[in-house]
Amino acid sequence: MTTERTFSIIKPDATRRNLIGKIITKLEDGGLRVIAQKKIHLTKEQAEQFYSVHKERPFYNDLVQFMTSGPVVVQVLEGDNAVLRNRELMGATNPADAEPGTIRREYAESLEANSVHGSDSLENAKIEIDFFFGADEIVG
Ligand code: CMP
Repeated sequence: MTTERTFSIIKPDATRRNLIGKIITKLEDGGLRVIAQKKIHLTKEQAEQFYSVHKERPFYNDLVQFMTSGPVVVQVLEGDNAVLRNRELMGATNPADAEPGTIRREYAESLEANSVHGSDSLENAKIEIDFFFGADEIVG
C-alpha cells in the first residue's frame, strides 16, 4: 500500500441537490481523508482549461456549460492507493454502468451530470491538484 493524493470534484448536479455531505461520507467511509477542500464557481476559462484533454470530443461544449452551471467542491483526497480507491468509490463514468453502492450509481443523474470527477492517474492527480490548490491550502 502506498499513500497517495488524488483530486476530486463534487459537480454542480450534486451541490444543487445538497449532496455534498453524503458524498464526503462515502469518501471518508471508503478510507479517504479530505486534506484540502473549497466550494467555488468555475469560470468558463477554468472549465475549458481543466477539460482541455476532451476539447475535440463532441460532448466538450456541453460539459463546460454543465460544469459552470453552479458551484462545485474541489478537493484533495489522501489515502492508501487514493487514485484507484477514489475511482472505485465513484463507480463507472456512466451511472448506468456503475456498481451498486458507488457514488455515481446512488447519486448521479446522467453520464454528464455524474456527480463527481476523480483523477484517472497519479500523474494527472498532481496536475489537477496544482491547477486548483497552492501548497499552503493542503493540510495533510
Ligand atoms: P469526468 O470524470 O469529469 O471526465 C469528463 C466528463 O465528461 C465525464 O466525467 C462525464 O461527466 C462527461 N461526459 C459527457 N459525455 C461523455 C461521454 N460520451 N464519454 C465520457 N465522458 C462524458
